Amino acid sequence: MASSMSKPKIFVARQIFPEGLERLRAIAEVDYNDQSVPLSPVDLSLRLAHVDGALVTGSEKIDAQTLSQAHRLKIVSNIAVGFNNFDIQLLTEKNILATNTPEVLTDTTADMGFLLLMAAARRLSEGEHWLRAGHWQNWSLGGMMGMDIHHSTIGVMGMGRIGQAIAKRALAFGMTVIYYNRRQLPKEIEKECQATYVTKEELLKTADHVMLVMPYVPENHHFIGEKELALMKSTATLVNIARGGIVDENALIHALKNQIIFSAGLDVYEGEPNIHPGLLEVPNIVLAPHIGSATQKTRLAMMHLAIDNLIAGLNHQQPPNLINTDLWK
Ligand code: DGY
Repeated sequence: MASSMSKPKIFVARQIFPEGLERLRAIAEVDYNDQSVPLSPVDLSLRLAHVDGALVTGSEKIDAQTLSQAHRLKIVSNIAVGFNNFDIQLLTEKNILATNTPEVLTDTTADMGFLLLMAAARRLSEGEHWLRAGHWQNWSLGGMMGMDIHHSTIGVMGMGRIGQAIAKRALAFGMTVIYYNRRQLPKEIEKECQATYVTKEELLKTADHVMLVMPYVPENHHFIGEKELALMKSTATLVNIARGGIVDENALIHALKNQIIFSAGLDVYEGEPNIHPGLLEVPNIVLAPHIGSATQKTRLAMMHLAIDNLIAGLNHQQPPNLINTDLWK
């Protein structure tokens, strides 16, 4: 940590909004990567080598390689709620605080989940492409038929803040809510969300639509693969607003091509921003470029919260959204 005489040094890994940069420059010496392109791991490790704090996004991997020279680093603040880009165990061993940005993006991301669900089940994207290509000649009774959202059963996989916000939206559509989570939720939350806890298998078999909102931890890698897709209804839509690695994309492409499930909506991809070419070929999928939290208000709030976390850590105060709380005890 910098001495009280000198300003701390921080690294900002990606382009941020001007008001954020202004806040940071008022309290610290800022090394700023003003590009929207992530640095290579080698460049990132060099930039982390000489700073007390860093502001990063979900695209910067903070691991053994990038931390190899970060001997004075005290805090890494993620502008994201998901922190699968952080090696938390290593950060804790190295005594480096890690923070994220929960809550401020809950409703915006839940809206996105619903948007993808409705667009995919009602074939909005497919219909628009068809219309733009000049194929629409007549209204027809059986044209572009999709699946209903209202009064159907939604299965939420991962019932954290965003999962609960999706459940509440679902209730307004008259839906039945079932959920699967690592742990069953307290009764009062289940009551608030009118949600019933079921096993993973029961959810996949029973839900008319499946929404993935769980964190991407190693045990959730390819949590939805061939076996799981085969359990789902052929009329079901699968939505992933969590992380790409949760779904086996080869299995999903096969399931969509062979009508094993009806449709899918994805906001996240295993190799993003590179997209599996097979996903681009299937018509019954809606593809969004990881924009779950991308509204002006929410992205600004995420940036400010990440800066609040960073500044608190640099000032030896407990950051509001500390992940490795063990370090504070
Ligand atoms: C999040 O906050 O985790 C979003 O996915 C952006 O990375």
